[in-house]
Amino acid sequence: MGSSFRLTTACAAALSLPLLASSSPVSRNHSTTPFDWDETKYVIAFGDSYTYAQGTLGYANSTFIGSNLNISFTPQQLLSDRIQQEDVDSTANRGPNWIEDITQCGTKEGLTDPRTCPVQLWDFAFGGADITVEYLPLHHNWSVQLVNQTAQFLDYGQPVLKDFVDADKTLVAVWIGINDIGDSDELAVDFPTFYDEDITAMFEQSITPVYNAGYKKWLFMNLPPLNRSPPNLVRAAGPLPNATMIDWWDESLQSHADAFAAAHEDASVMIFDANTFLNGVLDNATEYGFTNTTGYCPEYDQPLPVEQYGCLPLYDYFWYNTGHLTTHTHSVIAAELEKFLKAWSK
Ligand SMILES: *[C@@H]1O[C@H](CO)[C@@H](O)[C@H](O)[C@H]1NC(C)=O
Ligand SMILES: *[C@@H]1O[C@H](CO)[C@@H](O)[C@H](O)[C@H]1NC(C)=O
Ligand SMILES: *[C@@H]1O[C@H](CO)[C@@H](O)[C@H](O)[C@H]1NC(C)=O
Ligand SMILES: *[C@@H]1O[C@H](CO)[C@@H](O)[C@H](O)[C@H]1NC(C)=O
Ligand SMILES: *[C@@H]1O[C@H](CO)[C@@H](O)[C@H](O)[C@H]1NC(C)=O
Ligand SMILES: *[C@@H]1O[C@H](CO)[C@@H](O)[C@H](O)[C@H]1NC(C)=O
Ligand SMILES: *[C@@H]1O[C@H](CO)[C@@H](O)[C@H](O)[C@H]1NC(C)=O
Ligand SMILES: *[C@@H]1O[C@H](CO)[C@@H](O)[C@H](O)[C@H]1NC(C)=O
Repeated sequence: MGSSFRLTTACAAALSLPLLASSSPVSRNHSTTPFDWDETKYVIAFGDSYTYAQGTLGYANSTFIGSNLNISFTPQQLLSDRIQQEDVDSTANRGPNWIEDITQCGTKEGLTDPRTCPVQLWDFAFGGADITVEYLPLHHNWSVQLVNQTAQFLDYGQPVLKDFVDADKTLVAVWIGINDIGDSDELAVDFPTFYDEDITAMFEQSITPVYNAGYKKWLFMNLPPLNRSPPNLVRAAGPLPNATMIDWWDESLQSHADAFAAAHEDASVMIFDANTFLNGVLDNATEYGFTNTTGYCPEYDQPLPVEQYGCLPLYDYFWYNTGHLTTHTHSVIAAELEKFLKAWSK
């Protein structure tokens, strides 16, 4: 990502949402098909390293299935693929992430068949993804951008999944933009315009086609506080991206989600305000069990537990490395998100 780090591995209807403890989630409800988290049995996910689940048939340290070099897969491959959870560095967080936590799918060490999970997780996120090569280049020739993740899902996943995945009981979750804002932070562009075009491409090329395949329940996550990442805290010229840039992205995401919800009465469209929530966690770190919110263990990618290299236990750190969150931070997000999803369901 830009100069600081790269992630290789983010209304019309008045809403009477119950007040939530600490986050200030933004959300809206136009939907004629109400969302109910307790009735949700499937999650289909798209995004980047914050969100991918490692699959036995996925590119290493990047995704559940395939890569840009082998984007297609057979029905038999999809159904034989397993989520792989290992206590090793996989460049993202070394342990379950938020989407595995909320679905309880792939949280246990070893291999998990998504069909055996309380909420089945079908995860097409790819580490290092941006929205589209129209605006930002691939990190690697194997990287799958968001618009290609959704195409991959529709071309090869949906024909198989439609036989047993009930769209009415499915939440589609999207966390993207973390790489986009980092990869573009030194471009000579007007950032609000650039972000808006990039997000427009997402709604046109990813969200609309998946909605048209019958998926009406949507969760978007806005950007984490990347302006407070360890390198950004000590960057002489100030954080990049800074809080203003992150707000521009988040405002654009909000307005596109609002417009999408307004245009599709049968869609439930939720945004979890990860930015406000995680800024709050950083401000109240000890309440959440963190003792170090400003640095990360330099030996995060070494084979032994990080204490062996003189670091605190990984649990103590908010940041896993320069731009990723620890598995503890992911579990904190998941706990708050679950409250949010339940509150939305009422
Ligand atoms: C959302 O709208 C649906 C359909 O009108 C309704 O059943 C549900 O209670 C609403 N949810 C919230 C949180 O307002
Ligand atoms: C895609 O290629 C990788 C090797 O890069 C391989 O491990 C994986 O099994 C392949 N996946 C599929 C679905 O063909
Ligand atoms: C994936 O991560 C593991 C653990 O850090 C590492 O040993 C391996 O080389 C990585 N594989 C690739 C293809 O990057
Ligand atoms: C992808 O990139 C790798 C490493 O740069 C290179 O070795 C490989 O030949 C490339 N593959 C294709 C299909 O371009
Ligand atoms: C990815 O999407 C772009 C358009 O956004 C398209 O040009 C490209 O062919 C797609 N690649 C794959 C592998 O689907
Ligand atoms: C953040 O960066 C943008 C784009 O360069 C700039 O317009 C804005 O003033 C900066 N905001 C802060 C708080 O530094
Ligand atoms: C953090 O502390 C501030 C100030 O006490 C409070 O307003 C905020 O809600 C707290 N946030 C979280 C996530 O606990
Ligand atoms: C946070 O952890 C890093 C790495 O272990 C360490 O260098 C740094 O001093 C710690 N910061 C604080 C405030 O304890």
